[in-house]
Amino acid sequence: MNEERNGRREHGPILLSESQIAERVRLLGAEIATDYAGRLPLFVGVLKGAFVFMADLVRAIDLDVEVDFMALSSYGRSTETSGVVRILMDLDEPVQDRHVVLVEDIVDTGLTLSYLEEHLATAGAASVEVCALLVREGRQHDASHIKYVGFELPPAFVVGYGLDAGEYGRNLPYVAEHIQ
Ligand code: IMP
Repeated sequence: MNEERNGRREHGPILLSESQIAERVRLLGAEIATDYAGRLPLFVGVLKGAFVFMADLVRAIDLDVEVDFMALSSYGRSTETSGVVRILMDLDEPVQDRHVVLVEDIVDTGLTLSYLEEHLATAGAASVEVCALLVREGRQHDASHIKYVGFELPPAFVVGYGLDAGEYGRNLPYVAEHIQ
């Protein structure tokens, strides 16, 4: 258990500040708006971790967009992947013929992502692109699948800006190292 100070749990060093994140999200939004001009993209956020990023990202896109969410479970309360992805909540609307942008908090092994890409392709999406706030360096994902990347991240487990460790840290406005 981490130490507590003033009733808040401690975390490690801040890796990405609130303003760094805001600036990157603004640029990603502008890039996506250019790429999807003339289309009505459907942004699919992967709960729970992507809820903060999704909220900021769609507001940085100067286009009409639609938004939906899926909830998956792959880690339980552990910080290591279990290798099992389960759909806890599916999309409201069919994705048939839609241009889907999958919004992920972090791509680690890429297991969650490949599962979702396949799921959406099978459901008949016209296109599926991925926008990930964070991509962890040196793990077993194929980064070429990820069109929009916020930041590459060293191996440390992180919390903040939607990301948690055992439900701790989602409401931190920055990304910080987690203390085990
Ligand atoms: P993957 O399937 O191994 O790519 O894992 C992706 C999912 O694991 C993310 O959507 C997060 O929910 C979770 N995850 C991976 N690394 C971290 C981390 O450093 N902090 C918090 N959650 C993480």
